Amino acid sequence: MERKGFTLWFTGLSGSGKTTLSSLLHHRLQEMGITSVEVLDGDVVRTHLSKGLGFSKQDRDTNIRRIGWVAQLLTKHGIPNLVAAISPYREVREEVREMVEGAGGKDSFIEVFVDCPVDVCERRDAKGLYAKARRGEIKNFTGIDDPYEPPLNPELHLKTDSATPEECVERILEHLIAKGLLPQGAEKKRV
Ligand code: ADX
Repeated sequence: MERKGFTLWFTGLSGSGKTTLSSLLHHRLQEMGITSVEVLDGDVVRTHLSKGLGFSKQDRDTNIRRIGWVAQLLTKHGIPNLVAAISPYREVREEVREMVEGAGGKDSFIEVFVDCPVDVCERRDAKGLYAKARRGEIKNFTGIDDPYEPPLNPELHLKTDSATPEECVERILEHLIAKGLLPQGAEKKRV
């Protein structure tokens, strides 16, 4: 039987932990013998597939639709994929959900709200972008002078200011197991 694909969609502010969680989960899945997993990270996608796009609502929506298109193709062919993109607008996230569920069936789209208060993200400021946004050197920065619409009904709501990345990834694995999205036997390889 062909394996069931799925799209795990991490949405949240810059610096909330989306890339950290997708990388750690990718690593854990590989340890469990699930080696064919694709990661689509906003920062990386913007260097090729979405090269040239900016951060207006229109460009962000285009970016998300492109990522969603690739995600649904992978899901259709049974390849688990992890998306890490701010994806600040609810409507286009819902559009992508429908596209993925259309390709992979119910439960194949898992929206993960990576919830971290903006002041914590700003304090972390790993890329120094919040400081630039505060100085007005970057305009339309999400959480500063651009909107972020939190999911109303995400499959998973992770609070990365209080839970460790390891704890968050455990919750994701539990969800995947409960929904029968990991191949039989993989669960036993959890270390
Ligand atoms: S999205 O809004 O279209 O989903 P995406 O996840 O691809 O965004 O890219 C976000 C990354 O771009 C951030 O992590 C940050 O490194 C960088 N960036 C540059 N300018 C902005 C901005 N104005 N708002 C948010 N992120 C920005």
